[in-house]
Amino acid sequence: MKLIIVMTFALMGSVLGQDFLLRSGQSGQFPNFPYCLCKGTGAYKVDNTVTYKGDNTYCFKVRVSIPTNCSEYCCQQADLKKLEINVRPACNVPGVVLTATLNGAPTTVNPNFELAPQGPLNSTILKITQLGLNLATADSAEICVKLGTNRGGIGCTTLEQLCLPSVGAAPGVCSIALFSSNNNCCPTSIVNNAVPPAAPPQGPIDNSLRLCTTCVNFTLSSGVGIVPYNFTQAQCAAYAKAVAAGFLNAAFQAGTDVFRNFTLNVCSGRVVSVCGKFEDYKGALVAPYADDLASQFLALVAPGGAPPPYLAGHTITVTISSERSNELIGRRLLQDSMYQCPLAEKSLPLTPANITFPKCICNTTQGVLPFATLPFYTTKPGVSKGSTQYCFTFTSITPLSGPCASVNIFAKVEFWANDTAPLRRSLKGFYVRSSSETAYTFLAATWSSFGDQTVRATGLDWNKQEANGAEVCMELDNSVSLDTFCLGPYSKGCYVNIFDKSKNCCPLYATVDAPYVP
Ligand SMILES: *[C@@H]1O[C@H](CO)[C@@H](O)[C@H](O)[C@H]1NC(C)=O
Ligand SMILES: *[C@@H]1O[C@H](CO)[C@@H](O)[C@H](O)[C@H]1NC(C)=O
Ligand SMILES: *[C@@H]1O[C@H](CO)[C@@H](O)[C@H](O)[C@H]1NC(C)=O
Ligand SMILES: *[C@@H]1O[C@H](CO)[C@@H](O)[C@H](O)[C@H]1NC(C)=O
Ligand SMILES: *[C@@H]1O[C@H](CO)[C@@H](O)[C@H](O)[C@H]1NC(C)=O
Ligand SMILES: *[C@@H]1O[C@H](CO)[C@@H](O)[C@H](O)[C@H]1NC(C)=O
Ligand SMILES: *[C@@H]1O[C@H](CO)[C@@H](O)[C@H](O)[C@H]1NC(C)=O
Ligand SMILES: *[C@@H]1O[C@H](CO)[C@@H](O)[C@H](O)[C@H]1NC(C)=O
Repeated sequence: MKLIIVMTFALMGSVLGQDFLLRSGQSGQFPNFPYCLCKGTGAYKVDNTVTYKGDNTYCFKVRVSIPTNCSEYCCQQADLKKLEINVRPACNVPGVVLTATLNGAPTTVNPNFELAPQGPLNSTILKITQLGLNLATADSAEICVKLGTNRGGIGCTTLEQLCLPSVGAAPGVCSIALFSSNNNCCPTSIVNNAVPPAAPPQGPIDNSLRLCTTCVNFTLSSGVGIVPYNFTQAQCAAYAKAVAAGFLNAAFQAGTDVFRNFTLNVCSGRVVSVCGKFEDYKGALVAPYADDLASQFLALVAPGGAPPPYLAGHTITVTISSERSNELIGRRLLQDSMYQCPLAEKSLPLTPANITFPKCICNTTQGVLPFATLPFYTTKPGVSKGSTQYCFTFTSITPLSGPCASVNIFAKVEFWANDTAPLRRSLKGFYVRSSSETAYTFLAATWSSFGDQTVRATGLDWNKQEANGAEVCMELDNSVSLDTFCLGPYSKGCYVNIFDKSKNCCPLYATVDAPYVP
């Protein structure tokens, strides 16, 4: 009797087992991820570093990466509809709500866990579908998934808990497949949370720290004919402050911290260097943010809109470079760090803003004449009561080669100004001085015909030596601001056009009151 009961249970067990298999509908046809018949070679991949954004949110960066010599549909045409992650069956608990974003916006459909229909028993995937990406839009797309638990607190919230690592891989290593709409293409990537796979070494080694010494360099370069700009102390200080805040924020986003805050190291005019330190594996967590940070830092120097006029003809480069070092605190030296410290480089060549001035045809390229306008004007009280002088200073330069280069005489300057009657009247005239004079000479303003919006200080006829340090001061009634008087995209700015006698050469400069300090 006893025996019969045991046998009955055994039978029932196997029947139940069979039943499970059928109910879940898992055919077991494809034993390995992505558990279906599809081409593993294709146009898309996921960056191998996952970025942790806090709040159980993990972000994957998609790249378009077409294998060389692959002309197949999957490499050349396929779209990108769906992302699947090979996950541990235990994560698929009822009541877990997952959310995802694509480039910051919620995905069309929430992600969910599914049993892989053609996979072995219990094989489970996390699926994010209806991505709607293609070869043109997928590169750099960021897909973030927020993991969570159900109300009972059960569920997987870290990649270590979530991902089923392939054989031999460390916990937290995830396999991700990217599917085309027709499911024929499923290139697979192996990705890794940037968290160190193992705890930092123990024992005497504890006394040493392996560090990333990371520097952000802002450098300026400029060619012939351009008045080279030097960063000011105030700019250096402001950039340093912003870099320190940028890295603190990135470290916070990455769920880690900095070892030594970023501080100003060099402020030499053409180079600003701001350096800080990370413990090496923490630096590796911040590394995925380096590109975005570099772009952010570039915008400190040249914010959007019209480029700062004093940087026209310059290229700004922001590099984030790191040195990995073993900082010896104890006696023992460690083997070199293997972590990737933050690295990035962005550069931006700046050209003058496009404007509709001057109204005549002549070569406006900066540097064509051996003369240039300095980028900042100065102000002082005017000669007549209730007026202000805006003084523009000139310098001599080595010109670009060309027909204008041999000009010796600085003939006149023209300003782009509003020529309506009340504004014309507000201009009292010019006070001018060559570099060899100490006293200013009054010069009446000469307006072009109405509508040309041009006023000139003419008959200057300075030679190179006289022009080098010469000044033209524009005296304006205080009832009118420079912004109202001068035209162009710059607030507190004026366009100053230098002419030779032939009027063929007219390098155009914008001047402003001061450098931009973020
Ligand atoms: C790609 O094709 C060219 C010419 O057919 C061949 O020389 C080259 O080795 C191929 N590259 C790869 C990576 O297969
Ligand atoms: C499949 O999952 C069920 C329920 O969690 C579990 O009891 C069973 O042991 C699993 N089977 C395999 C082969 O992992
Ligand atoms: C950054 O600037 C510092 C100081 O001028 C210099 O020593 C360092 O080599 C620069 N780094 C790079 C990558 O240019
Ligand atoms: C910029 O600094 C260099 C020295 O670092 C100096 O020779 C040059 O005159 C400065 N240029 C300007 C426009 O101040
Ligand atoms: C870095 O600066 C921030 C803000 O000033 C401060 O809270 C933090 O403690 C500093 N970190 C280190 C390592 O000095
Ligand atoms: C200025 O205009 C030229 C030609 O029209 C164009 O190539 C250039 O991109 C423009 N530059 C800016 C800064 O808009
Ligand atoms: C202006 O002069 C420069 C230098 O000689 C030359 O390269 C450029 O082509 C000229 N531009 C025009 C519009 O003639
Ligand atoms: C010039 O100033 C007048 C007011 O005097 C204003 O109505 C007009 O819009 C200004 N013109 C330009 C081009 O800014």
